[in-house]
Amino acid sequence: MSEAEYIKEYKQQLLADFNSRTNYDNGRFYIPIAQRLIEVANLQQGHKILDIATGTGIVAFAAASKVGAQSKIIGIDISTGMLSNAKQKLAASGLQNVEFIEADAELINFEENSFDVILCSLAICYLTNITAALHKWYSFLKSGGKIVFNAWTENAFTTSVLFRDVVAKYGIHVPNPNALLGTTQKCQQFLLAVGFQKQNITIQQEQFGWYFTPDVDNAEQIWEINAKNVFGYQVQQLAPSKLQECKAEYIKQVQALPVTYQGAWCDASIFFVTATKI
Ligand SMILES: C[S@@+](CC[C@H](N)C(=O)[O-])C[C@H]1O[C@@H](n2cnc3c(N)ncnc32)[C@H](O)[C@@H]1O
Repeated sequence: MSEAEYIKEYKQQLLADFNSRTNYDNGRFYIPIAQRLIEVANLQQGHKILDIATGTGIVAFAAASKVGAQSKIIGIDISTGMLSNAKQKLAASGLQNVEFIEADAELINFEENSFDVILCSLAICYLTNITAALHKWYSFLKSGGKIVFNAWTENAFTTSVLFRDVVAKYGIHVPNPNALLGTTQKCQQFLLAVGFQKQNITIQQEQFGWYFTPDVDNAEQIWEINAKNVFGYQVQQLAPSKLQECKAEYIKQVQALPVTYQGAWCDASIFFVTATKI
């Protein structure tokens, strides 16, 4: 498969995945992580803000509540489904300074030097060319403006690491979406490569995660999440009997995860990254 064909198929899968997430805002960590990103961003009144891969607008609305009516917030996303939820919330809010645009963050163009802050929460790992995207975003920033994004650590999501390990035994390579940005050094390298300077980059690691009961029902649910998302869907290539075998092995291994009295721990540590353009 050529790279262009791969990207086309990947983006179709991405859309299929996100267009179907009708209950997105009920996810356990989207809102707390967005709120933390907004704290880290230290937004000011009057800022012009771009929220890349805004999804249902969680970050854009949190930003709007901080900066007031003098600011402008533009949220862009590739998924019609996610954006339609954002647009419904916008209509209900009556906010006049928030706008949502359907676009691919890797292709969209804005004027150079036009934003004070570019935000991107829980989405940079979905891009097919992070360096090229960051180059663009750097050019959209005013001098003194900043990019604030987060990125999961490379071993985030204990149950997804286990999923990749188990399916690999069945000959299926599921890419680790957190491999590229999953360490402090990697985040820094990407930013240095597009023109930020080391002294203007701040990266802080924070621990997110949760305890869960590793029983059959939960393990099955976690399998479904992994086997249907844009990275794990490749496991569906297995013949039905192999797929069942693989799933059964995964469920067994989830049940065997170490437990404390609180349950099994699914670690989801994350970096919050700020880079200011001088
Ligand atoms: C996990 S959600 C995060 C949404 C939102 N930032 C939040 O924190 O709730 C990832 C989002 O990235 C979007 N996305 C992925 N690739 C994209 C691209 N190339 N251009 C625009 N949006 C993209 C998806 O459609 C999805 O809405």
